[in-house]
Amino acid sequence: MTSPPFSKAEREAIYRVIAERRDVRRGFVDTPLPEDLLERLLVAAHSAPSVGLMQPSRFIIVRDFAVRKAVHNLFEQANAQAADSYSDERREKYSTLKLEGILEAPQNLCVLCDSGSERGQKLGRQTMPETALYSTICAIQNLWLAARCEGVGVGWVSILDPEKLREVLNIPAHLLVVAYLCIGFVNHFASEPDLERFGWERRVALETVVSYDRYSRAVES
Ligand SMILES: Cc1cc2nc3c(=O)[nH]c(=O)nc-3n(C[C@H](O)[C@H](O)[C@H](O)COP(=O)(O)O)c2cc1C
Repeated sequence: MTSPPFSKAEREAIYRVIAERRDVRRGFVDTPLPEDLLERLLVAAHSAPSVGLMQPSRFIIVRDFAVRKAVHNLFEQANAQAADSYSDERREKYSTLKLEGILEAPQNLCVLCDSGSERGQKLGRQTMPETALYSTICAIQNLWLAARCEGVGVGWVSILDPEKLREVLNIPAHLLVVAYLCIGFVNHFASEPDLERFGWERRVALETVVSYDRYSRAVES
């Protein structure tokens, strides 16, 4: 039995969630996420498409303040190094950006990929082995969108040395560290990306990235 078509309101809700999803690094509320809500977000992630149906994503829920503090220390180290890679005005601007909410969000989520898993019998991975990783990215996006409609902010922190993170979180060598996310209730979602609001980068128009039939350099922005 197929389910009925989506109503206009339901269709609009999906596009609204997509448009209003934000990377959130500030304004987290202290209240931890209830178990059932966290479960819904993880189910959303776990329902994502995956190459060969291998479902390679693994999740570590990080609530312990001491563990988050250790990760935050890693962020501070990596962020100082990143700041050093810029000069003059860029460097100054970089140092004003708020790029994580590790301690403010009551829970963090580390997302891993078991790219060597035999599940899926290698279907789709013989030509593109990297599709295991892509499958985990799909899971993260599902969670990010589900979180938005639940009033939960998600902020992705990639300014971390993955090998040091592996040590802090006791992640075995066969799992790829894909994402470290700060997650929590927020009262407000910004209407535009922080990086745009603070003048770091601007979004490009769709027509500058789409070509037809053959790739056209003319569209490169
Ligand atoms: C793979 C990935 C890594 C990211 N890493 C960081 C990060 O370390 N710190 C940060 O503040 N934002 C990070 N972001 C968030 C982006 O800056 C953000 O998605 C982008 O500016 C667009 O803003 P929006 O998500 O609010 O639309 C990351 C996003 C992605 C997809």
